[in-house]
Amino acid sequence: MPLVTLNEILPAARNEARAVAAFNVANLETLLAVFKAAEEENSPVIIQVYQRLFNDERAELIAAMTAKLAEKTAIQIVLHLDHGTSVEQIKKAIKIGYTSVMIDGSQFPLTENIELTSQAVEIAHKAGVSIEAEIGHVPFGNGKVELSSSEEAVKFVSHTNVDALAISIGTAHGFYKEAPCLDIKRAREIGAGVSIPLVLHGGTGVPEEQLKKAIAYGVTKINLATELQDLFLRGAACELKRNEKKFMPIDLCFKPVEKRIIEYSKIKIKAFRQATFSS
Ligand code: 13P
Repeated sequence: MPLVTLNEILPAARNEARAVAAFNVANLETLLAVFKAAEEENSPVIIQVYQRLFNDERAELIAAMTAKLAEKTAIQIVLHLDHGTSVEQIKKAIKIGYTSVMIDGSQFPLTENIELTSQAVEIAHKAGVSIEAEIGHVPFGNGKVELSSSEEAVKFVSHTNVDALAISIGTAHGFYKEAPCLDIKRAREIGAGVSIPLVLHGGTGVPEEQLKKAIAYGVTKINLATELQDLFLRGAACELKRNEKKFMPIDLCFKPVEKRIIEYSKIKIKAFRQATFSS
C-alpha cells in the first residue's frame, strides 16, 4: 500500500493506549531491518530520517527505497522527517515523498515556536502531509531538560493545529549516564489537557516500565535512534573482527547485523503495544 501519514495510525493508537515505534534509519541495511521487523510483527511503523541527511541525496534515496518497500506490503508505513529545521526543509521533504514531517522550534520562546510551527503546518496540511512539533526541550547529550507544561501544550495545539506533539518529560537524546526518571505526573497533566497524540523523543535507554506508564497518558510515538544505530555500527565492527583474516562481501557481512536489528526492533514494537495504568 502507499505510504501513510501519522494521522492514519496515531489517533487510533492513542485511543487504544498503545504507541508506535519510530526508528531513525540512515541506510539500506537499517531501513530493511526495521521494515522486516514491522512485517514480522504485522505492525504499523514510522521510518524517520534525521534532518542532517536532507543536506545531500540520502533522504531522497531512503524515500525511494521506503516507498518501494511499502508498495509490496499490507502494513502501514509512515516516512517522517525528524527534527526539521526550517520551512524550506519541510518543503523539500514533501517534494521528495515524505508523508510526515517534524518542525522543531523547541529552542525558541513559545510565541516564536507557535509562529514557525503554524507556517509549517499550513504547508504540510496543504500537501496532505502530517506534522509533529515540540514544546519544552529534549536536549541532545548532556544539555538541560526543559519540561513541557500542560498550559503551554493546550495553547500550542490550539494555535498551531499540529497533528502530534513532542513533549519533554525527562528524556534526552543519546545514551544516559544513569537511567532517567520520567515525570509521569507531568505526562498525565499534558495528556489530560490535549487529545492529540503525544511524542516522546530520546527513547534510547528509558526503562520499559516507564515508557508504558507514559503510553497510558497519551504518548503514542516513541523515537529510537541511538540504540539502533549503535547496534548497527558495533555489529559491523564485530563482524569485521570475526572475519579478520578473510574478505567478506558487504551484503554477507551485514546480514548478521541486520538480524540483530530486526530482533531489537521487534522487542520495541511489542513492548509499546501495551500501557501500564498506575493509580
Ligand atoms: P535517541 O537517540 O535517544 O533514541 O532519541 C531518538 C530521537 O528522539 C530522535 O528524534
